[in-house]
Amino acid sequence: MDRYIDRNGFILYKSRNLTPVEHLLDFELRAKRNGHRGAVIWLTGLSASGKSTIAMETERRLFQRGYQAYVLDGDNIRQGLNADLGFSPDDRAENIRRIGEVAALMADAGIVVISAFISPYKADREKARMVARGRFYEFYIKASLEECKKRDPKGLYKKAHLGDIEKFTGISAPYEEPDSPELIIDTEKNNINDSVSEIINYIENNLKLSSNFDEKDSIVSVGN
Ligand code: ADX
Repeated sequence: MDRYIDRNGFILYKSRNLTPVEHLLDFELRAKRNGHRGAVIWLTGLSASGKSTIAMETERRLFQRGYQAYVLDGDNIRQGLNADLGFSPDDRAENIRRIGEVAALMADAGIVVISAFISPYKADREKARMVARGRFYEFYIKASLEECKKRDPKGLYKKAHLGDIEKFTGISAPYEEPDSPELIIDTEKNNINDSVSEIINYIENNLKLSSNFDEKDSIVSVGN
């Protein structure tokens, strides 16, 4: 699969004469109001590893706890924002580039973004980490290819084997495992509930603020 590897110089900057505009609010102030920092929780793993199920349950449980949380999921986003993209290496890179940018913006707005994309290339995930500026947590949703083939909830592995789907991750396209993810969630060893609890604990330990938002802070820092 050599032809899948190199896509350096993929991002093109076409615009000129741009002047950045500053917000009058900042990340920490938004965090104070929410009681937690915004962040990108980036779930990566094979199709059928459990990313979407875990993402949706994590979102639900964070919401119950008062968090601002939102899932960006491959199968959904590919029907809207990324409807023009397929599964070639370049299209997957563009898929992840756009989601990386969107997720970084949402995290800056104070939201805990849970992204659920196969995101098979290390280089693309590293770019997404870079644009999120220190607010990126890579969680490897781990299940062996054999197990994913057994689960096959959408029947896609079967189709890929029959040759009805091209460039299917794990079958006819690569998946590059993360080298040093912040968390590894092994969905062969843990059930969904335990996997989600592990993620929630991580979020509570790393993103939750100890003291609540004080209205005075906002008045002092934001002005009239
Ligand atoms: S990624 O590789 O670009 O990150 P993404 O997560 O957006 O992929 O989309 C993966 C989803 O698209 C899978 O869950 C599956 O339902 C569907 N899909 C359709 N064709 C393919 C394919 N060739 N490889 C992987 N997933 C596919």
